[in-house]
Amino acid sequence: QRNLVTVDHMEADDALDLIHEAQAYKEGKKPELFQKAYAANLFFEDSTRTKCSFQMAEHKLNMDTINFDASTSSVNKGETLYDTLKTLESIGVNVAVIRHPETEYYRDLCKREDLKIGIVNAGDGSGQHPSQCLLDMMTIAEEFKSFNDLKVLIVGDIKHSRVARSNAQMLYSLGAKVFFSGPKEWFDSDFEKYGTYGDLDTLLPDMDVINLLRVQNERLNDTEGMNFDSDEYHQQFGLTKERATQMKPKAIIIHPAPVNRGVEIDSDLVEGPQSRIFEQMKNGVYARMAILSRVLRYQEVM
Ligand code: CP
Repeated sequence: QRNLVTVDHMEADDALDLIHEAQAYKEGKKPELFQKAYAANLFFEDSTRTKCSFQMAEHKLNMDTINFDASTSSVNKGETLYDTLKTLESIGVNVAVIRHPETEYYRDLCKREDLKIGIVNAGDGSGQHPSQCLLDMMTIAEEFKSFNDLKVLIVGDIKHSRVARSNAQMLYSLGAKVFFSGPKEWFDSDFEKYGTYGDLDTLLPDMDVINLLRVQNERLNDTEGMNFDSDEYHQQFGLTKERATQMKPKAIIIHPAPVNRGVEIDSDLVEGPQSRIFEQMKNGVYARMAILSRVLRYQEVM
């Protein structure tokens, strides 16, 4: 696969293959590169986890990482993303990992046959976050034998969330039963094809996985931002300690992070026994190794 930019239309078997390879890396599988391979990480939006864990994945695959700083790059002189990628390709970079505020920034780039560099999407606007999705599926797969009929509740700022979109699509494709909750104005009817919207307190006791979402203050419009009350949100839609007592004993909590502690989730629950938030971060390295390996195999350097 030349690029990995979306989970839209990704077959369930395809996702399971990536999860199995990620698990193999976690268990110690050694990567074998036929020749030196190079990655550049182009982050036009802030990131801690995705950027650092792609860097860690590149190191573990024995790739070299070329330093690219979006804030000092020639993009600021008006250079297009295509010309930036063509430049990186010309100097020998195999894979560009890109986070960009524009939804589907990759659409035209992926159609260009003159572009040989592999593109891995590290998050596009409110579009997709495929590497987060795969690490989330890996974390769920580690816990439960099968996705079939597993009940997963996605809670929060669904409309603005690329994580919600990728996860809802992939969970549906893997056979899970998907539910949504959170402020009704942050739900989008586009998601109805993947699952059902309902009341948090009614749904919670029946769920196997609680997938909390970050309130994305940076994507709220002015009116939404002005009217947002974090304490009220926590009481109405957050995972409070009291609410958490209603969860099944074997249910797990996942959150893509960064976490707004005390908003989406009570701070003490973040490190609690049902939380897998830090395991997700650990799994992110291996999921990203699997994604990069797939692109490197297409280029026959692995
Ligand atoms: N989950 C996630 O994408 O985190 P970062 O924004 O820190 O990369």
